[in-house]
Amino acid sequence: MTDNYTYAFNFNLKLHAIGRTPPFKAILKLLQKMPTIFTINTPPVNYEVKPVMRTKISSIARKPTMLIGLPKEIKDTENRVGLTPGTVKALTQAGHRVLVQHGAGEGSAILDADYQMAGAQLVNTAEEAWSAQLVVKVKEPIAAEYQYLRPDLLLFTYLHLASNKPLTEVLLASGTTSIAYETVQTEDGQLPLLIPMSEVAGRMATQVGAIYLQRSHGGRGVLMGGVPGVAPANVVILGAGIVGSNAARIAVGMGAQVTVLDINHARLKTLDDIYRGQLQTRINNSHALTESIYQADLVIGAVLIPGGRAPWLITHEMLPQMLNRAVIVDVAVDQGGCVETTKPTTHSHPTYEVEGIVHYCVANMPGAVPRTSTFALNNATHVYVLRLAEQGLQAMCTDPALRHGLNTYRGAVTYAAVAEAFGLKKIDAATALKP
Ligand SMILES: NC(=O)c1ccc[n+]([C@@H]2O[C@H](COP(=O)([O-])OP(=O)(O)OC[C@H]3O[C@@H](n4cnc5c(N)ncnc54)[C@H](O)[C@@H]3O)[C@@H](O)[C@H]2O)c1
Repeated sequence: MTDNYTYAFNFNLKLHAIGRTPPFKAILKLLQKMPTIFTINTPPVNYEVKPVMRTKISSIARKPTMLIGLPKEIKDTENRVGLTPGTVKALTQAGHRVLVQHGAGEGSAILDADYQMAGAQLVNTAEEAWSAQLVVKVKEPIAAEYQYLRPDLLLFTYLHLASNKPLTEVLLASGTTSIAYETVQTEDGQLPLLIPMSEVAGRMATQVGAIYLQRSHGGRGVLMGGVPGVAPANVVILGAGIVGSNAARIAVGMGAQVTVLDINHARLKTLDDIYRGQLQTRINNSHALTESIYQADLVIGAVLIPGGRAPWLITHEMLPQMLNRAVIVDVAVDQGGCVETTKPTTHSHPTYEVEGIVHYCVANMPGAVPRTSTFALNNATHVYVLRLAEQGLQAMCTDPALRHGLNTYRGAVTYAAVAEAFGLKKIDAATALKP
């Protein structure tokens, strides 16, 4: 990967003195003759030294800059975009260059002009955006984008390689350095770049549940908050993690009667402490589960077994015992679903019915609210994008969370689950990155 450099130095210094103490005037005079840029903080008086002219003559205060590309997402129905103008501004203010493909932000209601105001350079083609050293995206490259992969490219995006053999092969053959959002992991085991999408999906789950409870959408015709004299909807949430707690938050806010089940006592305790009687928590076992779901108007499936398939908590034979026209929103569909009758659906055909129960099983729920999702995702990726821009490959040596995200490097697989999925040899990321 090639480095570009900008050079900043003082050619003709102009001094701004805050304070007038005589000894410091002497220091200022001395500083005026020195060929560098710096700020001295000399309590109680501060002297700031600023360059008034810049030119490229030496390597004083040399700072590497990165060329960053933001292509428009072209995967079907993907309307998110990898960078917001806020992050672009932070990058350009730090001296980096950002190439934004014309119309990249359209799906998230971000104008080209917003990127230009943030200091980006607009380019007309995907090829130009992909020509950058670091490319930031949302979705994995699809076949039409494979042509842009190359050995000196640093790619930062969701990849989900373990379920995508063709892309894994292309990344390896091209020698691209790829960092997958979903495998960036902090030392406490958190997956910071998955959390924002779980937050969006959790809040949305209650919202769509409320819509499909309406009779005109096939549901029981129950209003979430009820009205004075009529009971609110009975909402049961399976899982008290990120999705579950966000779903609970909206359901409580809508005035529903909410029960959350989990096998993790600590998570239930957190919710109990926050909501102080506004919702019920129950340890999940078969008795608590059936007692809860057989009375539910809306069930939200939000369980996760890390690295594993979601358990079937609701079997087909349990459905006839549920309330007629109850609604199940199975957010865990992307991990196989926590209901036996779950099968993935799309935003254009989100629901189907089994045994009189409405099933909503959209696998990419955040896709329905791309603007919110873009900003939520970018809030989480911002710090890593800046680190990659500042340090390039070195960022993965200094930041273990980013190193966890490294999936392919110079033709080798560096992430265990991907290597296992395709019977490939895994190279340790830290070893691979050693110069
Ligand atoms: N459909 C979508 O668009 C979409 C978007 C984001 C996340 N998801 C999925 O939502 C699911 C939940 O994600 P999350 O971020 O909340 O995960 P999380 O790890 O934060 O929470 C999962 C919770 O499930 C609990 N759990 C595990 N087994 C259980 C069981 N048998 N009974 C009850 N609780 C159990 C865990 O204790 C944990 O509290 C995942 O499958 C995730 O992939 C889907």
